Amino acid sequence: MTPGVRVAVVGAGYVGLPTAAALATFGHDVVCAERDEARLAALASGRVPFLEDGLGGLLAQVVASGKLRFVRGAAEAVRGAEFVFVCVGTPEGDDGAADLSFVEEVAAEIAGELEPGAIVVNKSTVPVGTAAELERITGTTVVSNPEFLREGTAVGDSLHPDRVVVGADDRRAARRVGELFSETGAPLIVTDTVTAETIKYASNAFLAMKLSFVNALAALCELIGADVRDVVLGLGYDRRIGFDFLRPGPGWGGSCFPKDTAALVRIAEDAGYDFALLRAAIAANHEAHARVVRKVEELAGGELAGRTVGVWGLTFKAGTDDRRSSPAVAIARRLVELGATVRAYDPTVPPGPSPQDLSGTVLCADAYDACRGASAVALLTEWEEFRGLDFVKVHDVMASAALVDARNLLDPAALRRTGFTYAGVGRP
Ligand code: UDX
Repeated sequence: MTPGVRVAVVGAGYVGLPTAAALATFGHDVVCAERDEARLAALASGRVPFLEDGLGGLLAQVVASGKLRFVRGAAEAVRGAEFVFVCVGTPEGDDGAADLSFVEEVAAEIAGELEPGAIVVNKSTVPVGTAAELERITGTTVVSNPEFLREGTAVGDSLHPDRVVVGADDRRAARRVGELFSETGAPLIVTDTVTAETIKYASNAFLAMKLSFVNALAALCELIGADVRDVVLGLGYDRRIGFDFLRPGPGWGGSCFPKDTAALVRIAEDAGYDFALLRAAIAANHEAHARVVRKVEELAGGELAGRTVGVWGLTFKAGTDDRRSSPAVAIARRLVELGATVRAYDPTVPPGPSPQDLSGTVLCADAYDACRGASAVALLTEWEEFRGLDFVKVHDVMASAALVDARNLLDPAALRRTGFTYAGVGRP
C-alpha cells in the first residue's frame, strides 16, 4: 500500500462519511472520528447508519484496502494527521443564525492535540468569519472548504465535484488543501476564507431561489391554464438557464436549504443589508407547502376535520431517509392540525409508534394501507415505487379516489381513466 497524505475527518454523518470515503479513494490515509457510540458500532460492523446509494460499497473497499479506519474521539483521529477535516452539523439556532456549538466543541477538543503545522479544514457550513474564530481556538491555520454534495448522490458528488472551493488567508495552505482533490480534475477556486464561506451560502440560496421561482411559476400556470412542464422545457434549452433544479414540487427542504437561506438572511441583516429577494424566496416556499394543503382540503370535499387523508412519502426528497425540514413532514403536520386523520407511508419509515416529528400521524406498512378509508391522498416524495402502484386497488380502498401529486410523478390521464380526481403542480 503506497502511503498517502495523512488525513483526519471529524464526524461520520451525511457529509463526513462520503468525504472520508472519497479522500481514501484518492489514495490518502484517512482516520474518521465519530463520537456517537451506536453510529461507530454500525460503522465498525460495516453498516452505513443512513441511506446513501453506493456509500456502503465504497466504504467497504477503502476499509478493506486499509485506507480508512474509524475511531471514537476527534483527539485520537488528529494524531499524526497533516489535515483535519471538520464535518459536523451546524443546525439552525433559534434566531435563524447557524448554531456553532458542535464546530466549537471539536475545535476545543483538538486544540493541543494537533501535530505542529497541521491544517484544519472546515467543511461544515458556517457563518462568514468563523474560520478566523476557529484559528483562535485551535491555534493553527484554518482553511474553508465548503461541501456541495447532495444526499442520495453524495458518492458521485464527492468523487466528481463540479468544483473545489478552498478559502484561506494563507494561500499556500489553501493550495495544499486543493491538492488533496487533484485526482478529481475539478476546477479549483482559491479565495480568502470569507469568500469561500460566502460561496457555499450563495450556491444554496441561488438554488433555493430557483426552486421558489419554479414553484411560484407553477402556481401561476394553474391560474392561467399553462403547463409548467412545457414552460420549463422552453426555459431549460436556454443555456443561460438550464434544466436543473426546475422541477416544481411541494417546496424545498432538507438539512441545508432552509437553514442556509435563513442564515444568509441573518448574515446580511447583521451586515446592514436587507436581502429582500431571499426573504421572498423563503416566504414563497412556505406558500408552496400551504398550496398543497389547500389542494388536499379541496379534493377531500372542502373540509379536513374528521376526514382521513393518505400521505405518500415523508423524507425531504427520494433517495434519502432524512426528514430534516421535510416539506412532506410540514404538510402532514398541518393536515393533522386542521383535524384530519393522517395515514402516512414512506419506504424509509417503519410502521408503528410515531417518532416526535410525526406525532399524530399514523405510520402504515405500505402505500395501500396509507390510503385506506381516505378522502384524498397526497404524494409528497418522489419515490419511484409510487409509479408502480396498482391504482385500481388504491381506488378501491379509498373513501373517495382523489389524489394530489405534489411531485408531478404520475400519469394524470391514466389516473382519471381509473376514476381518480387528480391535481398535480402547475399542470392540467
Ligand atoms: C443541497 C445542495 O444541492 C447541496 O449542494 C448542498 O451541499 C446541500 O444542500 P440536498 O439537501 O441533499 O443538497 O438536496 P437537493 O437535492 O439540493 O434538494 C433540496 C430540495 O429541493 C429537496 O426538498 C428537493 O425535493 C427539492 N428539489 C430539488 C425540487 O423540489 N425540485 C428540483 O428540481 C430539485
